[in-house]
Amino acid sequence: MTKLVSKWNYPTTVRFGAGRIKELADALAEAGIKRPLFVTDPGLAKLPVAASTLKILDTAKVPYGVFSDVKPNPVESNLAAGISAFRKGKYDGVIAFGGGSALDLGKLIAFQAGQTRPVWDFEDIGDWWTRANPDAIAPIIAIPTTAGTGSEVGRAGVITHEASHTKKVIFHPKMLPAIVIADPQLTTGMPPFITAGTGMDALAHCLEAYCAPGYHPMADGIAVEGIRLVFENLPRAFANGKDLTARAHMMSAAAMGAAAFQKGLGAIHSLSHPIGALYDTHHGMTNAVFMPYVLSFNREAIEDKIARLSAYCGIKGGFDGFVRAVVKLRRDLKVPHTLPGLIKGLEMDKKRKSLIADMAVVDPTAGGNPVKLTKKAALMLLDSAIEGKLAGES
Ligand SMILES: [Fe+2]
Repeated sequence: MTKLVSKWNYPTTVRFGAGRIKELADALAEAGIKRPLFVTDPGLAKLPVAASTLKILDTAKVPYGVFSDVKPNPVESNLAAGISAFRKGKYDGVIAFGGGSALDLGKLIAFQAGQTRPVWDFEDIGDWWTRANPDAIAPIIAIPTTAGTGSEVGRAGVITHEASHTKKVIFHPKMLPAIVIADPQLTTGMPPFITAGTGMDALAHCLEAYCAPGYHPMADGIAVEGIRLVFENLPRAFANGKDLTARAHMMSAAAMGAAAFQKGLGAIHSLSHPIGALYDTHHGMTNAVFMPYVLSFNREAIEDKIARLSAYCGIKGGFDGFVRAVVKLRRDLKVPHTLPGLIKGLEMDKKRKSLIADMAVVDPTAGGNPVKLTKKAALMLLDSAIEGKLAGES
């Protein structure tokens, strides 16, 4: 029986709604930031959405700097450059603006700029976060421009350790943004591929959190509603990026996924992380490829739960119906059914598969999978995703 004991954490203040980006200056005052560093990615920095946001700061006569040297998967040199910009400009807070990479790097700059130890000392292992000086962490305002990672309501940032090709999670409770401005209007320019990938990441967060073992009924409740929102709104946002209602619901689902996954993630993410690190694939798209294979693999542990979830979402056919609905959703969003569909010209020898399976079983998310992810299981799942065969299919 599940022990009815656990630890719950909740998101921060979220100013949610179309057009609320206009409140940026007010939000800065509320967070006590007088001189922000605006952290975004180089692609976004060139788009009107960034220019119009900076104009709000100009109009309010807020002095600020811009840092946009962020790789799609931030590395230590990006962080070092950001910290140097933060210190040089004597900024007192960060506006993290963008998708997962920009939000994570913005949070990490605010966290790390005042620390004296190397960032790797604060990896999310045991109570390593207590090594940090909490008084040296600058306040953060997070403004997501995608609807997927939910990093705006999270207390961690991910950074790639280049030497080992692994993503490290840096955690501190004060890395949680003081204020989030969740304005769906900012996401209307996202191209369909990114809409699909980020949206499927949000679905993977909700789904893996819901299936993770442990007692966390509030995370479960948040996850279930998040899943319903994705099924009903992601195809609409994909078909018409200007559908503000669908965009708003997806923005909620993304934040809900991140709030829910404090309960745990699972094998979708455990396998997606090494594939992303080795082949530079889109994180959400990679999750989407693995999703039905991992669901089928976990069947015996989650069948009843998924049947309850399906009933809530109006999906007929219990567990099998839910897997079919996931496969249909992927097809509608033009997500490839297999890994070779995602990675052109993919050829994986035994050694490479073994390396990926080794990385998957030690990934921090593996412990949340409802069925133990052994190396044998990881290899089997990898083969399934290469061949496009779901468990039970011949
Ligand atoms: Fe994710």
